[in-house]
Amino acid sequence: MVKAAVLYEQKSPMIIEDVELDDPKAGEVLVKIGAAGICRSDRHYMHGDAPTLLPVVLGHEGAGTVEAVGPGVTSVRPGQQVILSFVSSCGRCKSCLTGNAHLCDAHAAAGAFMFDGTTRLHKGDTRIHHFGKTACFSEHSVMPEAAVVPIDTPIGMDIAAMIGCCVPTGVGAVISSAKVKPGSTVAVVGCGGVGLNVIMGAAISSASKIIAVDIRESQLEFAMKFGATHTVNASDKDPVAQVKELTDGKGVDYAFEVFGSADTTKASYDMTAKSGTVTVVGIAPVGAEAGINAVDMVRNEKTMRGTYYGSTQAAVDMPKLVDMYLSKKLPLDDLVVRHYSLDQINEAYDDMDNGEVGRGIVMF
Ligand code: APR
Ligand code: ZN
Repeated sequence: MVKAAVLYEQKSPMIIEDVELDDPKAGEVLVKIGAAGICRSDRHYMHGDAPTLLPVVLGHEGAGTVEAVGPGVTSVRPGQQVILSFVSSCGRCKSCLTGNAHLCDAHAAAGAFMFDGTTRLHKGDTRIHHFGKTACFSEHSVMPEAAVVPIDTPIGMDIAAMIGCCVPTGVGAVISSAKVKPGSTVAVVGCGGVGLNVIMGAAISSASKIIAVDIRESQLEFAMKFGATHTVNASDKDPVAQVKELTDGKGVDYAFEVFGSADTTKASYDMTAKSGTVTVVGIAPVGAEAGINAVDMVRNEKTMRGTYYGSTQAAVDMPKLVDMYLSKKLPLDDLVVRHYSLDQINEAYDDMDNGEVGRGIVMF
């Protein structure tokens, strides 16, 4: 039996209860979860903005300690600290073989099941799905070997958890996807846990102006600690006009959408300069469509792209992000502002909805 937060119904709170967890099968690992981040991606499933199989244990931003390994596991051993990757790359599909392990076809096809199409979590006869194959809103979780990235130098579990999602998603969007050039101007629309990491990525890329855009003054003030040079409050005045005002009427070289809506996607596009690039990081509700000016896109040679998981190749990029944290290039300690227990997880998500700054983390 393990204690887990189970989502039985969308638009309802998660239920914290004991559920059964089977032993790891071949190629799987049992992890004692150390920390799990309060990320908006899980919230989309709770709110019903994205479809999910039910019941499900959510939680995809996590870290922990390997407790046992199934037959054939060679890359980790019990006792090692690991960061969780919510994409378990198979290493054999077209995406994996073309440098896009974060888009693994086999992982997507298996969805919230293990690769053999079954679950390790259940309650009696009812199977419980594993979101991201990580299902880390649980004291223990079983996941594929590819979901765990071992760390050599132990770090705080809360920091390690963030290096499982918001750090690679945000920093990766800047350095791996958009490849921001030094001296460029950048706007970041949405300054939550992921957006602050986009700001940090822009700062280490030596952007000349980093404009934080949010609807909450508290988030904008907080963003200044991570390298934002200017702030724009989108709640009272048009953010596009304000960003243009700060960039001699031109707009920014790179805009990042880090909230997840059609409106913020359009605004991010509109505030991008000639030859500029808009990178969409946030995940909008299913069916959202953003109206983009098709003529402007051609005449001004704008590039628009999406980025998933910051285009991160977990096994190689996560250890690099750990090193960047250890060498003080990424001030991740400042990002964690609240710790919760698993029993407080619904409250933690309410805090996120109410606009608390920084990242909340469930500690086990
Ligand atoms: N304009 C600008 N900012 C906005 C707007 C808006 N119209 N509406 C909301 N925001 C801000 C919020 O105030 C908050 O600061 O966007 C921020 C979102 O931050 P979080 O809720 O902490 O979400 P986060 O975990 O950072 O995820 C952001 O990235 O990976 C995806 O699925 C994730 O879509 C989500 C996005
Ligand atoms: Zn996340």
